[in-house]
Amino acid sequence: MADQVADMSGDDRAKRIAELKAKMQAAAQKAKAAAEHAPEQPATQTKPQQPAPVAEAVQEAPRREVVAEAEKREGAPAGSSPTNGASGNGAAAKAEVLSAEKVATPAPAFVEESPEEKARKEMNRREFLTYAWGGLLGLVTLQSAVGLFLFMMPRFKEGEFGGIFRIGPESSLPPTDAPPKAETAGKFWLVNTTEEGPVALYMVCTHLGCLYKWEQANNRFECPCHGSKFTREGYYIEGPAPRSLDRFEITVEEGEVLVNTGRRILGAPAAESPARAVPA
Ligand code: FES
Repeated sequence: MADQVADMSGDDRAKRIAELKAKMQAAAQKAKAAAEHAPEQPATQTKPQQPAPVAEAVQEAPRREVVAEAEKREGAPAGSSPTNGASGNGAAAKAEVLSAEKVATPAPAFVEESPEEKARKEMNRREFLTYAWGGLLGLVTLQSAVGLFLFMMPRFKEGEFGGIFRIGPESSLPPTDAPPKAETAGKFWLVNTTEEGPVALYMVCTHLGCLYKWEQANNRFECPCHGSKFTREGYYIEGPAPRSLDRFEITVEEGEVLVNTGRRILGAPAAESPARAVPA
């Protein structure tokens, strides 16, 4: 085409050159328009890939060092790839690089415990269980001891119903033929008898719980509720009461008479009473 333009005359050459310029401008505009209308690449495809070269470089750095060291040992030039080595040393260097990469690969997270470690952990667990059971047993024992102590200790004060009543020396007891003496705080009648000594009779009737009274004229106890009657010593005589009068434990300690209102002794059945008016 250059030879054809050179053979042309002056006017034809100028005309031809103008045509070529117009074609070139048209082609340039067409290429520009195509570039402007071409679809843009999504930003999400490029942005996440930016750190990749850096990460690859970081991961590749130890590998390069290993390759360089292997090639140096084998006589190959440092920095060249193990695949394009000049001699058969390249294969050896490549194998060494692969083995080095395998060694450099981190081991899995699971590490089996040694028997000593297992035994030590087992011992710790046993010690913990031993101490736990020991502490629990000690706690139960302590609780039982406290409960027993509270059960055995006197729960009533002396001189109030349920506790101990100090009557005094035996010489201070009323005569055996004297009327019973009421001890209202202790809820008992104190009677001094010839055969049994001092006796403390519970003031409550054994039938339905009324408070019986001493009838001096009849020389006996009589219940106003249903008419049960008892001797001066508390034995059943007659009436609906099922048994003789109840008594409290009475003792003599160092010459002093004590009545324990916390310990009640039930009277014998009415049928066994020696004072029963109508024999069974
Ligand atoms: Fe005393 Fe019934 S309550 S006889």
